[in-house]
Amino acid sequence: MILSLFVIAVLACSITCFETLSTSIPVSNQQPQSLLIANINLGTPPQNIPVMLFFGTNLPRLGQFILNKSVQGTNEIFDLLQKQIGMTNYYDLDSSTTSEQKGDYESVQEQSGYGGQMRGKYVQDVLQIGKLKFKYYFACAQKITSLNQAYSGGMIFFQRTEDNIFDLMYKQKIIKTRDYVLQGSTYEINGGYSSNKGYNLKMHFDLESNSQYYNYPPNQLVPNSDIFEMYCYGIYLDGEDISDKIKYKRIFIDQLTDTIDLGDNTIGIPLDLYSMLASKYDSVGRQQIFNCAKCQCDQIKNLPTITLITQEYKLTIDPSQYTQHIEQMDMCQVHLTQEKQFNFAKSLIFNSNIQVMYSKQPDTVRLIGAQTINHVNIDAIKYIFPIFTAIILTGLLFTFSWTIYQIQPLKLEQKQLKEKLNICIKL
Ligand SMILES: *[C@@H]1O[C@H](CO)[C@@H](O)[C@H](O)[C@H]1NC(C)=O
Repeated sequence: MILSLFVIAVLACSITCFETLSTSIPVSNQQPQSLLIANINLGTPPQNIPVMLFFGTNLPRLGQFILNKSVQGTNEIFDLLQKQIGMTNYYDLDSSTTSEQKGDYESVQEQSGYGGQMRGKYVQDVLQIGKLKFKYYFACAQKITSLNQAYSGGMIFFQRTEDNIFDLMYKQKIIKTRDYVLQGSTYEINGGYSSNKGYNLKMHFDLESNSQYYNYPPNQLVPNSDIFEMYCYGIYLDGEDISDKIKYKRIFIDQLTDTIDLGDNTIGIPLDLYSMLASKYDSVGRQQIFNCAKCQCDQIKNLPTITLITQEYKLTIDPSQYTQHIEQMDMCQVHLTQEKQFNFAKSLIFNSNIQVMYSKQPDTVRLIGAQTINHVNIDAIKYIFPIFTAIILTGLLFTFSWTIYQIQPLKLEQKQLKEKLNICIKL
């Protein structure tokens, strides 16, 4: 019986046991940029600070850092930008009992419009995410010069060329695997414009190595790069095969925060496909259709569903993923841009039910919940899993009833014995 319970626990765990780091984009019309912000606990006692997370390949040159409280009040513009994203609580390295200073730190001089440079110390302190604590080594900025961009409490990268925080946890044997899954969702904000859409991103990590996620087919990193891409063998517009007419057939699935604004939910499509669509559908070239009150966006409703067949997956780009009706402005928008490849990681993560899983060793990406080309495996698991659980439950019930059944006569015997004893006493 205990064994059955254990088996059930292990099976349930293979789909639900993981830790989650929740992140979101602060919504404000004046926000200087929109990167994902997560709250982490740094130091002892834990100081809860917001940090910006960056996923992608074109990493900000200033690198990763945590800002010490002393940066506050030294730069008027920076303070203002920080205030706009609601930044209030900074890390204070001196009030943490576990912080250790390791040497001087100086960032590069950022030449771009965002400008700035920072100085401070390399620091090691305890970082806590959820229930998990580990040692984190980071650049801690104490002084800044002219930062023209908000950075909340600091910046943390999720890249493949260097260890990210999950790799560090894994190396310190705090978590079981170093892989993670991105699950996105959006919500409308009342009375706003197109940019007033809220974004939430959950990062599931500490996955069980027998997790169902690993049943989805992996795609390898492009050799000598840190880009994930897939190749389209088939491209369809509303079911019509146009594969031969499209020259650019790659899909990038890795540019989550590389573009300036995550709130900008355009989908990149190859330029030849774009011109094909623009010549067929007036609304694609126009991008914005005004004065369409109550029109319900008829022009964008007849836009096609784009279906892509890769070696592993069947992916669909539905018109709802690349069009938007903004009631307050009587406007319909088509969010398509021309690139040299398909580029819709953001759309996959935030506007569909697909989750994207990143693995290390080897570096691969999996699209969790996407329709797979070789769906036999996953379908089989879908059916076998409940059947398996049912069998175990039946076994458990059987064991249970059997035990009860065996206890019953025992109780009876005891009763009879008692009665006999009663009679004896009476006698
Ligand atoms: C960190 O910030 C606090 C608060 O402003 C300040 O008292 C402290 O001196 C700073 N630490 C360093 C090492 O700069």
